[in-house]
Amino acid sequence: MRGNKVRQGINNIVILTGAGVSAESGIDTFRSAGGLWEQHKVEDVATPEAFARDPDLVLRFYDMRRERIQQVEPNAAHYALARLDAAWSGNLLLVTQNVDDLHERAGTQRLLHMHGEHLNAWCSACDERHLWRGTLIDRPACPACGIAGQLRPDIVWFGEMPYRMDEIYHALNHADLFVSIGTSGAVYPAAGLVREARKKGIKTLELNLEPSHGASWFEESRHGPATELVPAWVEEMLGG
Ligand code: OAD
Repeated sequence: MRGNKVRQGINNIVILTGAGVSAESGIDTFRSAGGLWEQHKVEDVATPEAFARDPDLVLRFYDMRRERIQQVEPNAAHYALARLDAAWSGNLLLVTQNVDDLHERAGTQRLLHMHGEHLNAWCSACDERHLWRGTLIDRPACPACGIAGQLRPDIVWFGEMPYRMDEIYHALNHADLFVSIGTSGAVYPAAGLVREARKKGIKTLELNLEPSHGASWFEESRHGPATELVPAWVEEMLGG
């Protein structure tokens, strides 16, 4: 049986997700429209330099994205991964590059956001983070230190260090299977995780709409929409 074959010798799983897993919920991927991200070049909105140069543009852009993610719902791929998380008795870590909250809304608990979260604001005056559903363009005061105008989106911009890399490498060091879902493999260090996995002899699987930049590194690739591929794979893992 395929399910048994897939599960053979697998206890510990690391799953990496990207924008493709949220695409069918109605959130644009980053590289879908010729390198433009909702009409903006990434470097105009997603770098510390862009924020220093034109904070209004950057804050308005992220305010829009923050509002948008609160209007969409998790899809079958998010729910399937939450089901796997709940049922899998071995170690499992879902590492997402996504800054939306759709994995947690679907119920995944063993989850880590390596590129930050839209629904967090980070105060550069006192370093506190706060759950944030509203806007930042109006330069609100930090609820912790009271200083206005110092809150920024808690998003890892280009040139900044992704979060919790030690935990990610630790999980990968103990994994038997690395699965990459809905990511183009264009942004490091996330894009390099498959190579780390291969060096350690870990099984690797890609689930993506099309072959990613790193497709040749994966032992197995399956191509199609996440809402079809992910539930089918989870079904195999849990044995039908
Ligand atoms: P990309 O936009 O680069 O890639 C999305 C991938 O998902 C592509 O390979 C698509 O083919 C695939 N895809 C699209 N629709 C899909 C679907 N319905 N089912 C399955 N796959 C689908 O997004 P990421 O790889 O996530 O960083 O981008 C990585 C990082 O670059 C992001 O986290 C962001 C960005 O700049 C930061 O914000 C720091």
